Amino acid sequence: MKSNPLILGGTTEATALCRALSDAGIGGTISLAGRVARPLQQPLPQRIGGFGGVSGLVQYLADHRISHVIDATHPFAAQMSRNAIQACALAHVPLIALSREPWRAGAWDKWTHVRDIAGAVTALNRPAARVMLAVGRMHLSEFSPNPQHFYLLRLIDATEDRLPFPDHRIVLDRGPFTYQGDLELMRENGINLVVSKNSGGTGARAKLAAARALGIPVVMIDRPDLPPRLETYEVSAVLDWLCHGRTDLGV
Ligand SMILES: NC(=O)c1ccc[n+]([C@@H]2O[C@H](COP(=O)([O-])OP(=O)(O)OC[C@H]3O[C@@H](n4cnc5c(N)ncnc54)[C@H](OP(=O)(O)O)[C@@H]3O)[C@@H](O)[C@H]2O)c1
Repeated sequence: MKSNPLILGGTTEATALCRALSDAGIGGTISLAGRVARPLQQPLPQRIGGFGGVSGLVQYLADHRISHVIDATHPFAAQMSRNAIQACALAHVPLIALSREPWRAGAWDKWTHVRDIAGAVTALNRPAARVMLAVGRMHLSEFSPNPQHFYLLRLIDATEDRLPFPDHRIVLDRGPFTYQGDLELMRENGINLVVSKNSGGTGARAKLAAARALGIPVVMIDRPDLPPRLETYEVSAVLDWLCHGRTDLGV
Protein backbone atom coordinates (compact mmCIF):
# COMPACT_ATOMS: atom_id res chain seq x y z
CA MET A 1 0.00 0.00 0.00
CA LYS A 2 1.29 3.52 -0.83
CA SER A 3 2.31 5.42 2.26
CA ASN A 4 0.52 8.63 3.17
CA PRO A 5 2.66 10.48 5.72
CA LEU A 6 1.68 13.50 7.78
CA ILE A 7 4.55 15.88 8.53
CA LEU A 8 4.17 18.15 11.54
CA GLY A 9 6.17 21.14 10.37
CA GLY A 10 7.09 24.75 11.00
CA THR A 11 10.86 24.27 10.62
CA THR A 12 13.46 24.30 7.84
CA GLU A 13 13.98 20.58 8.49
CA ALA A 14 10.30 19.90 7.81
CA THR A 15 10.50 21.81 4.52
CA ALA A 16 13.64 19.87 3.54
CA LEU A 17 11.87 16.60 4.35
CA CYS A 18 8.85 17.60 2.24
CA ARG A 19 11.15 18.36 -0.67
CA ALA A 20 12.78 14.92 -0.28
CA LEU A 21 9.39 13.19 -0.08
CA SER A 22 8.15 15.06 -3.11
CA ASP A 23 11.34 14.27 -5.10
CA ALA A 24 11.05 10.60 -4.14
CA GLY A 25 7.45 10.52 -5.37
CA ILE A 26 6.18 9.56 -1.90
CA GLY A 27 4.05 12.64 -1.27
CA GLY A 28 2.18 13.38 1.95
CA THR A 29 0.76 16.41 3.74
CA ILE A 30 2.52 19.02 5.86
CA SER A 31 0.74 20.54 8.82
CA LEU A 32 1.53 24.06 10.06
CA ALA A 33 0.26 25.68 13.24
CA GLY A 34 -0.59 28.94 11.46
CA ARG A 35 1.53 31.22 13.66
CA VAL A 36 3.29 32.99 10.76
CA ALA A 37 1.46 35.46 8.51
CA ARG A 38 3.19 34.39 5.29
CA PRO A 39 4.39 30.80 5.64
CA LEU A 40 7.04 29.64 3.19
CA GLN A 41 5.79 27.83 0.10
CA GLN A 42 5.89 24.08 0.84
CA PRO A 43 6.80 21.33 -1.65
CA LEU A 44 3.80 19.22 -0.50
CA PRO A 45 0.10 19.99 0.06
CA GLN A 46 -0.39 21.78 3.38
CA ARG A 47 -3.04 22.11 6.05
CA ILE A 48 -2.98 24.91 8.62
CA GLY A 49 -4.15 25.15 12.23
CA GLY A 50 -4.39 22.99 15.36
CA PHE A 51 -6.07 19.58 15.29
CA GLY A 52 -7.95 20.07 18.56
CA GLY A 53 -5.70 18.24 20.99
CA VAL A 54 -4.95 14.52 21.10
CA SER A 55 -8.48 13.42 20.23
CA GLY A 56 -8.61 15.81 17.26
CA LEU A 57 -5.34 14.43 15.95
CA VAL A 58 -6.52 10.82 16.38
CA GLN A 59 -9.61 11.74 14.34
CA TYR A 60 -7.52 13.46 11.65
CA LEU A 61 -5.25 10.41 11.31
CA ALA A 62 -8.26 8.17 10.77
CA ASP A 63 -10.19 10.53 8.47
CA HIS A 64 -7.18 11.05 6.19
CA ARG A 65 -5.87 7.46 6.35
CA ILE A 66 -2.47 8.66 7.52
CA SER A 67 0.07 5.83 7.37
CA HIS A 68 2.98 7.51 9.23
CA VAL A 69 3.57 10.68 11.25
CA ILE A 70 6.84 12.58 11.14
CA ASP A 71 7.16 15.13 13.91
CA ALA A 72 9.48 17.74 12.41
CA THR A 73 8.30 20.55 14.70
CA HIS A 74 10.68 22.82 16.56
CA PRO A 75 12.31 21.22 19.66
CA PHE A 76 10.40 23.72 21.84
CA ALA A 77 6.99 22.85 20.32
CA ALA A 78 6.58 20.38 23.17
CA GLN A 79 2.79 20.36 23.34
CA MET A 80 2.47 19.33 19.70
CA SER A 81 5.16 16.66 20.15
CA ARG A 82 3.49 15.22 23.26
CA ASN A 83 0.13 15.18 21.49
CA ALA A 84 1.68 13.37 18.52
CA ILE A 85 3.19 10.68 20.78
CA GLN A 86 -0.16 10.05 22.47
CA ALA A 87 -2.30 10.23 19.33
CA CYS A 88 -0.04 7.92 17.32
CA ALA A 89 -0.04 5.37 20.15
CA LEU A 90 -3.84 5.48 20.33
CA ALA A 91 -4.28 5.29 16.54
CA HIS A 92 -1.49 2.69 16.04
CA VAL A 93 0.22 4.97 13.52
CA PRO A 94 4.04 4.79 13.49
CA LEU A 95 5.78 8.01 14.57
CA ILE A 96 9.29 9.34 14.11
CA ALA A 97 10.73 12.72 15.13
CA LEU A 98 13.01 14.57 12.73
CA SER A 99 14.90 16.76 15.14
CA ARG A 100 18.08 18.82 15.41
CA GLU A 101 21.17 18.12 17.42
CA PRO A 102 21.22 20.46 20.45
CA TRP A 103 23.94 23.13 20.54
CA ARG A 104 26.79 22.44 22.96
CA ALA A 105 29.07 25.02 24.55
CA GLY A 106 32.68 25.10 23.39
CA ALA A 107 35.73 26.14 25.40
CA TRP A 108 35.29 29.85 24.67
CA ASP A 109 31.55 30.03 25.24
CA LYS A 110 30.18 31.64 28.42
CA TRP A 111 26.83 29.90 28.80
CA THR A 112 24.57 29.70 31.81
CA HIS A 113 21.99 26.93 31.44
CA VAL A 114 18.42 27.44 32.62
CA ARG A 115 15.60 24.90 32.54
CA ASP A 116 12.90 26.94 30.87
CA ILE A 117 11.61 30.43 30.05
CA ALA A 118 10.86 31.07 33.74
CA GLY A 119 14.53 30.28 34.48
CA ALA A 120 15.61 32.82 31.87
CA VAL A 121 13.33 35.44 33.43
CA THR A 122 14.95 34.78 36.82
CA ALA A 123 18.43 35.02 35.27
CA LEU A 124 17.52 38.49 33.97
CA ASN A 125 16.77 39.74 37.47
CA ARG A 126 19.95 41.83 37.46
CA PRO A 127 21.06 45.39 36.67
CA ALA A 128 20.15 46.79 33.25
CA ALA A 129 21.84 45.12 30.29
CA ARG A 130 21.51 45.21 26.51
CA VAL A 131 19.92 41.86 25.76
CA MET A 132 19.40 40.01 22.51
CA LEU A 133 16.26 38.06 23.42
CA ALA A 134 15.97 35.13 20.99
CA VAL A 135 12.95 33.28 22.36
CA GLY A 136 10.35 33.89 19.63
CA ARG A 137 7.21 36.00 19.76
CA MET A 138 5.01 33.84 21.99
CA HIS A 139 6.91 34.27 25.27
CA LEU A 140 7.77 37.96 25.31
CA SER A 141 5.13 38.89 27.89
CA GLU A 142 6.80 36.56 30.41
CA PHE A 143 9.75 38.96 30.56
CA SER A 144 7.62 41.70 32.17
CA PRO A 145 9.36 41.33 35.59
CA ASN A 146 12.55 42.72 34.00
CA PRO A 147 11.67 45.97 32.18
CA GLN A 148 15.04 47.55 33.10
CA HIS A 149 16.87 46.04 30.11
CA PHE A 150 17.15 47.08 26.49
CA TYR A 151 15.85 44.16 24.40
CA LEU A 152 16.77 43.42 20.81
CA LEU A 153 14.07 41.19 19.27
CA ARG A 154 14.29 39.46 15.92
CA LEU A 155 10.87 38.38 14.72
CA ILE A 156 9.39 36.99 11.50
CA ASP A 157 6.23 39.13 11.77
CA ALA A 158 5.65 42.49 13.45
CA THR A 159 3.83 42.09 16.76
CA GLU A 160 0.77 44.11 17.70
CA ASP A 161 1.04 43.08 21.34
CA ARG A 162 2.12 45.81 23.73
CA LEU A 163 5.54 44.70 24.88
CA PRO A 164 6.07 44.75 28.65
CA PHE A 165 9.49 46.44 28.39
CA PRO A 166 9.75 50.02 27.09
CA ASP A 167 13.29 49.96 25.75
CA HIS A 168 13.43 47.61 22.77
CA ARG A 169 14.16 47.34 19.07
CA ILE A 170 12.45 44.89 16.73
CA VAL A 171 14.26 43.61 13.66
CA LEU A 172 12.00 41.79 11.19
CA ASP A 173 13.93 38.95 9.58
CA ARG A 174 13.60 35.26 8.83
CA GLY A 175 16.64 32.94 9.08
CA PRO A 176 18.98 31.47 8.18
CA PHE A 177 21.25 34.11 9.72
CA THR A 178 24.97 34.62 9.10
CA TYR A 179 27.87 35.00 11.51
CA GLN A 180 28.90 38.31 9.93
CA GLY A 181 25.33 39.63 10.01
CA ASP A 182 24.84 38.69 13.68
CA LEU A 183 28.23 40.11 14.64
CA GLU A 184 27.25 43.46 13.11
CA LEU A 185 23.76 43.36 14.64
CA MET A 186 25.18 42.78 18.13
CA ARG A 187 27.86 45.44 17.76
CA GLU A 188 25.43 48.00 16.33
CA ASN A 189 23.04 47.47 19.27
CA GLY A 190 25.72 47.26 21.97
CA ILE A 191 24.49 43.82 23.04
CA ASN A 192 26.17 42.47 26.18
CA LEU A 193 23.89 39.49 26.96
CA VAL A 194 22.15 36.90 24.76
CA VAL A 195 19.14 34.80 25.81
CA SER A 196 18.52 31.84 23.52
CA LYS A 197 16.51 28.66 23.36
CA ASN A 198 18.66 25.61 22.61
CA SER A 199 16.99 25.20 19.24
CA GLY A 200 19.95 23.45 17.61
CA GLY A 201 20.53 23.25 13.87
CA THR A 202 22.37 25.70 11.67
CA GLY A 203 19.81 28.44 10.84
CA ALA A 204 20.03 30.30 14.16
CA ARG A 205 23.47 29.22 15.37
CA ALA A 206 25.25 32.33 14.07
CA LYS A 207 24.29 34.41 17.12
CA LEU A 208 26.14 31.99 19.40
CA ALA A 209 29.29 32.16 17.29
CA ALA A 210 29.01 35.96 17.27
CA ALA A 211 28.50 36.03 21.06
CA ARG A 212 31.59 33.85 21.49
CA ALA A 213 33.66 36.14 19.26
CA LEU A 214 32.54 39.23 21.21
CA GLY A 215 32.95 37.55 24.65
CA ILE A 216 29.22 37.98 25.37
CA PRO A 217 27.59 35.66 27.94
CA VAL A 218 24.59 33.56 26.89
CA VAL A 219 21.64 32.41 28.99
CA MET A 220 20.83 29.10 27.29
CA ILE A 221 17.32 27.71 27.77
CA ASP A 222 17.53 23.90 27.76
CA ARG A 223 15.04 21.84 25.77
CA PRO A 224 11.81 20.62 27.32
CA ASP A 225 11.78 16.94 28.27
CA LEU A 226 9.68 14.64 26.10
CA PRO A 227 8.69 11.00 26.50
CA PRO A 228 10.94 8.55 24.63
CA ARG A 229 10.25 8.30 20.88
CA LEU A 230 12.02 7.20 17.74
CA GLU A 231 14.11 10.18 16.66
CA THR A 232 16.67 11.09 14.01
CA TYR A 233 18.54 14.18 12.84
CA GLU A 234 18.70 13.00 9.22
CA VAL A 235 16.13 13.41 6.44
CA SER A 236 17.61 10.34 4.71
CA ALA A 237 16.93 8.25 7.84
CA VAL A 238 13.27 9.29 7.75
CA LEU A 239 13.09 8.04 4.15
CA ASP A 240 14.72 4.74 5.21
CA TRP A 241 12.17 4.39 8.00
CA LEU A 242 9.26 5.17 5.69
CA CYS A 243 10.33 3.01 2.77
CA HIS A 244 12.12 0.13 4.50
CA GLY A 245 10.74 0.23 8.04
CA ARG A 246 14.22 0.83 9.50
CA THR A 247 14.00 1.70 13.19
CA ASP A 248 17.68 1.46 14.24
CA LEU A 249 18.06 5.20 13.88
CA GLY A 250 17.92 6.50 17.45
CA VAL A 251 19.90 9.66 18.27
N1 LIG B 1 8.33 26.97 19.84
C1 LIG B 1 9.27 27.52 19.09
O1 LIG B 1 10.27 28.06 19.58
C2 LIG B 1 9.16 27.47 17.59
C3 LIG B 1 10.19 28.03 16.81
C4 LIG B 1 10.09 27.95 15.41
C5 LIG B 1 9.01 27.33 14.82
N2 LIG B 1 8.03 26.79 15.62
C6 LIG B 1 6.89 26.13 14.95
O2 LIG B 1 5.74 26.85 15.29
C7 LIG B 1 4.65 25.97 15.51
C8 LIG B 1 3.99 26.27 16.84
O3 LIG B 1 4.95 26.10 17.86
P1 LIG B 1 4.51 26.17 19.39
O4 LIG B 1 5.75 26.14 20.22
O5 LIG B 1 3.52 27.24 19.57
O6 LIG B 1 3.79 24.73 19.51
P2 LIG B 1 3.16 23.99 20.79
O7 LIG B 1 3.10 24.93 21.94
O8 LIG B 1 3.84 22.70 20.98
O9 LIG B 1 1.70 23.65 20.25
C9 LIG B 1 0.51 24.27 20.74
C10 LIG B 1 -0.61 23.83 19.84
O10 LIG B 1 -0.48 24.41 18.54
C11 LIG B 1 -0.91 23.47 17.56
N3 LIG B 1 0.23 23.12 16.69
C12 LIG B 1 1.55 23.25 16.95
N4 LIG B 1 2.27 22.86 15.90
C13 LIG B 1 1.40 22.47 14.95
C14 LIG B 1 1.54 21.97 13.65
N5 LIG B 1 2.75 21.83 13.06
N6 LIG B 1 0.40 21.66 12.96
C15 LIG B 1 -0.82 21.84 13.52
N7 LIG B 1 -1.01 22.31 14.76
C16 LIG B 1 0.09 22.63 15.46
C17 LIG B 1 -1.45 22.27 18.31
O11 LIG B 1 -2.82 22.56 18.54
P3 LIG B 1 -3.92 21.44 18.78
O12 LIG B 1 -3.70 20.94 20.17
O13 LIG B 1 -5.22 22.14 18.57
O14 LIG B 1 -3.67 20.35 17.75
C18 LIG B 1 -0.65 22.32 19.60
O15 LIG B 1 -1.24 21.64 20.67
C19 LIG B 1 5.19 24.56 15.40
O16 LIG B 1 4.77 24.02 14.16
C20 LIG B 1 6.69 24.71 15.46
O17 LIG B 1 7.36 23.76 14.63
C21 LIG B 1 8.08 26.85 16.98
